[in-house]
Amino acid sequence: MTDQTTESADQPLEDRGSNRSQRPSSQAFREFIGSNWGPRPEGLPERMESADSAAIHRAAIGAKFPGERLVVPAGQLVVRSNDTDYRFRPHSAFAHLTGLGTDQQPDAVLVLEPNVTSTGEPVSEGETHSATLYFRPRAERDTEEFYADSRYGELWVGVRPSLEEIEAATGISCAHIETFGDAVAKDAGQVTVRVVPQADEAVTAVVRKAQQEAGVSAEEAQDAALAEALSELRLVKDEWEIGEMRKAVEATRAGFEAMIRSLPRATEHPRGERVIEGAFAAVSREEGNGLGYDTIAASGNNANTLHWINNDGEVRRGDMILIDAGVEVDSLYTADITRTIPVDGRFTEPQRKVYQAVLDAADASFARAQEVRSDGGRPRFRELHEAAMEVLAARLEEWGMLPVSAQESLAPEGQYHRRWMVHGTSHHLGIDVHDCAQARRDMYLDGELEPGMVFTIEPGLYFRADDLAVPEEMRGMAVRIEDDIVVTEEGAVRLSAEIPREVADVEAWVQGLLAE
Ligand code: GLY
Ligand code: MN
Ligand code: MN
Repeated sequence: MTDQTTESADQPLEDRGSNRSQRPSSQAFREFIGSNWGPRPEGLPERMESADSAAIHRAAIGAKFPGERLVVPAGQLVVRSNDTDYRFRPHSAFAHLTGLGTDQQPDAVLVLEPNVTSTGEPVSEGETHSATLYFRPRAERDTEEFYADSRYGELWVGVRPSLEEIEAATGISCAHIETFGDAVAKDAGQVTVRVVPQADEAVTAVVRKAQQEAGVSAEEAQDAALAEALSELRLVKDEWEIGEMRKAVEATRAGFEAMIRSLPRATEHPRGERVIEGAFAAVSREEGNGLGYDTIAASGNNANTLHWINNDGEVRRGDMILIDAGVEVDSLYTADITRTIPVDGRFTEPQRKVYQAVLDAADASFARAQEVRSDGGRPRFRELHEAAMEVLAARLEEWGMLPVSAQESLAPEGQYHRRWMVHGTSHHLGIDVHDCAQARRDMYLDGELEPGMVFTIEPGLYFRADDLAVPEEMRGMAVRIEDDIVVTEEGAVRLSAEIPREVADVEAWVQGLLAE
């Protein structure tokens, strides 16, 4: 009698994924499938538009760490379930320093190798580092990878690039990932090696091993300082990056129009919010790399749940729908826009009242962002929030909702108005929807605005249906208006200015699209 238990135990669990496969493996088959293919196209890809910007970013981070080896992984594919991976998205710091976006390149690592003078001193000006991009180039057709590797094989995921191709596209010297271990271990006892934390645990392990073997202790604080510097480097965007942000906003505008056009179908569907979500998702893939974050399509009282991404509710005529959505373009820069629109194309009086309060708060915040003092000084980032709160507190006082005066509420020990807006008014925006998150407080919240900064302004009021502190006519309503802003030499500009936001403009926009 066969002992099933023992037999099963003989086959390790990780090998059982192939139990369903009947892939031929004879030598004759391998030779056959690997032969008789036409030549690969000649020539190399053009240098990517992002390459110059990425080179400037590399020089800037290198200048902060002269004489040190900096390791910036792209990250690994992440399993979604069993043998199916999530679509790959490179680590944001890797994208920023290489210019590679979309799904490039799982398992890659950028290494900035310090240049030293003839006496071994770090080069402190000019080219402080030489960059090498280690990745896994395509294997040729005579390999098993070609036909049998569902993660990397050409017959499974398409023709992946060669070293020469990525070198031409990025302007960065390339080497096979198999040589990364030796490169990172070289002189690891003499040179400080920093690795971006949590980007790729396997890469961190290689660095740690090299450090251990060289007899140096791993300093997590050193890695954290690299992450902080990389985050702060993104606080100010260059012209090319701002161009990408404009593309993302423009694609997002098209997505909002598609969502409004889908409203008649949404109101007929039991999960109308999903109809709206789907309309945006289609545009995000057609016009960009995809969604910058999960779309919030929240109708009626659902909009009072700040992270409403279930989107499985009905869309009822007479309600407002709050839509927070952003297209991420191929370079990975994303927009982050919210509009709250009347499903019928016309606000009711209480809806208009709440909407106008939020709009006035957003306008006050934007006016603050535009200020440039005669000495060239600018507002601090935190003032964007303060300006919006002054307007909302005053309006809530007018409506009799505050237990104290607006002024008392605005004091740090008050803050009663925050019951109806618990989130912040602004965040930096870029490759991450909440960009620059590891920057120091005095660079971010307490930092002065600077030309090239890109952030949102997104005040809101959230009046839950069961909130007895809200006048009855406004219960169950939520409004957020979110625009994307770039700071300029003269002040600040709304990148999302073409997406209607004034009461009359929103009504005309919705009515116009529904009448098409
Ligand atoms: N959509 C995320 C946010 O507005 O911050
Ligand atoms: Mn936002
Ligand atoms: Mn948003």
